[in-house]
Amino acid sequence: MTTAIGIDVGGTGIKGGRVDLATGELVSERIKYPTPEGGHPGDVLDAVEQILGDLDSGPDDHTGVCFPAVVTHGVTRSAANVSADWIDFPATSTFGESLGRDVHFVNDADAAGVAEAQYGAAAGVPGLVIVLTLGTGIGSAFLMNGQLVPNTELGHMELDGVDAEKRASNAAREREGLDFETWGRRVNRFLRHVEKLFSPDLFLIGGGVSKEHEEFFPFFDVSTEVKPAALLNNAGIVGAAYLAGNSLLD
Ligand code: BGC
Repeated sequence: MTTAIGIDVGGTGIKGGRVDLATGELVSERIKYPTPEGGHPGDVLDAVEQILGDLDSGPDDHTGVCFPAVVTHGVTRSAANVSADWIDFPATSTFGESLGRDVHFVNDADAAGVAEAQYGAAAGVPGLVIVLTLGTGIGSAFLMNGQLVPNTELGHMELDGVDAEKRASNAAREREGLDFETWGRRVNRFLRHVEKLFSPDLFLIGGGVSKEHEEFFPFFDVSTEVKPAALLNNAGIVGAAYLAGNSLLD
């Protein structure tokens, strides 16, 4: 069995597991630690080391890390909901040297999108699939005939004078105590705008809240087909492992 390690670094938790690359399934326990206060790179590195130890992972394991920022050539370029220390931080080389193995970084929504294309709801779908993850922020992944176009960052598209994610993320729903109808209509406005600009063939909605899609999908009014993502909480882990295992990063 060919496996790789996937780690998903988020604002509140850092999760990891070993993934069977043939099926996209976790073949280990899913390890989770809270993100250290402040989310600074050195502390995140310690948590990742701990997870690799818990997974009995050795230096030969392909290891992918997904992270909520733009990542180009192994360097994290932005920090919307994380420590500003990550801006222009050489994540791939710093983590690789400290952990004594090849480590590869990728944007979290891009990892989730790749997982959907390989093993989930975007598998075999021709044309343009836009995956949107509704969490602390809004992440986006563009898949053209299954091929990722990275770092699209649609959550920062301006809508009503602010970043779309400030009003339509799941965190905005919780922060403002919105019911699913009010929030669903906000997400719909965002989808309509994205649809107008990119004319996708399919929208996939991910993030933990997609488990409750029946509560808010009825308030969508778009011409594009909309489906929930299939991999839910493990999408980032699985996509990061797939990309690292197939040497598709950097
Ligand atoms: C970040 C993206 C990330 C998304 C979801 C946004 O604020 O800019 O890079 O994919 O949040 O975590």
